[in-house]
Amino acid sequence: MQVIETIAELMALRQQLSDAVGFVPTMGYLHQGHLALVKRARTENSAVVVSIYVNPAQFGLREDFAGYPRELDRDFELLQREKADIIFVPSDAEMYPPEFSSWIDVQKVTERLEGASRPGHFRGVATIVAKLFNLVQPSRAYFGQKDAQQAVVVKRMVADLDMGIEIVVVPTVRESDGLAMSSRNVHLSPEGRRAATVLFKALTLAQQLGRGGEKDAEEIRRQITSLIQKEPLAGIDYVSIADARTLEELSFIDRPALASLAVTIGRTRLIDNMPLE
Ligand code: PAJ
Repeated sequence: MQVIETIAELMALRQQLSDAVGFVPTMGYLHQGHLALVKRARTENSAVVVSIYVNPAQFGLREDFAGYPRELDRDFELLQREKADIIFVPSDAEMYPPEFSSWIDVQKVTERLEGASRPGHFRGVATIVAKLFNLVQPSRAYFGQKDAQQAVVVKRMVADLDMGIEIVVVPTVRESDGLAMSSRNVHLSPEGRRAATVLFKALTLAQQLGRGGEKDAEEIRRQITSLIQKEPLAGIDYVSIADARTLEELSFIDRPALASLAVTIGRTRLIDNMPLE
């Protein structure tokens, strides 16, 4: 495994790889969710590249960029165990030199949900992902279902700009009580950690209602909203039942749908989602 920090070194190493390259972009502080992407990439490619970069451009002014957890040595150990080949850990100066002025703005699918709650977030994500794709030139890139809208945005960008990269979406990895693994879970207090299971409970309820034949999306929103409101530590940012492909809110469930939530527990904002059949 090689850890490299500069674009020049990455491009030199990339030139030596001729077979399929799998790429997993991350912001580090790795957990089993990230490692599921690396494992999948390992089985499908002859080389695996992982990037670790906390991208300032995707954090809003009032968001947790400075407080985002970082623990590189532990990340390197975990990636070594998963047999990743190249770890790219660039600096801000490397990724955003002072003259940097180009941004990728994916429209429509970024208007709602995370895009509405976090203005500019997906512009930062799309731009860094495009830059990393250009540097790594992967055959396949791996994203988690945990960030469902992010995967939709990246797929849209790859299709629109003819990037020719296969985007593989990997199921959400959860703790034993259902909480979706996230680097941000570390900020939860013990009471907050218990309260955070309300997201999984609400999404499970949405799935059960869907399986039971409920087609009225507003009824599902109502029931999961009232379940979350019973948790005193939880504050709802949004509750969505949307078209799984376009992310437009549905009133009637007549196509593949996605239930998704953003909930704050104390100062920690958590997101999660589940498909509805
Ligand atoms: P980060 O939050 O570190 O996540 C990196 C990848 O891991 C994303 O594709 C995310 O969806 C996936 N992931 C996170 N938790 C997961 C879980 N519990 N189960 C399965 N997959 C999970 O997402 C980002 O970083 C950034 O926006 C990035 C794409 C790196 C661009 O900066």
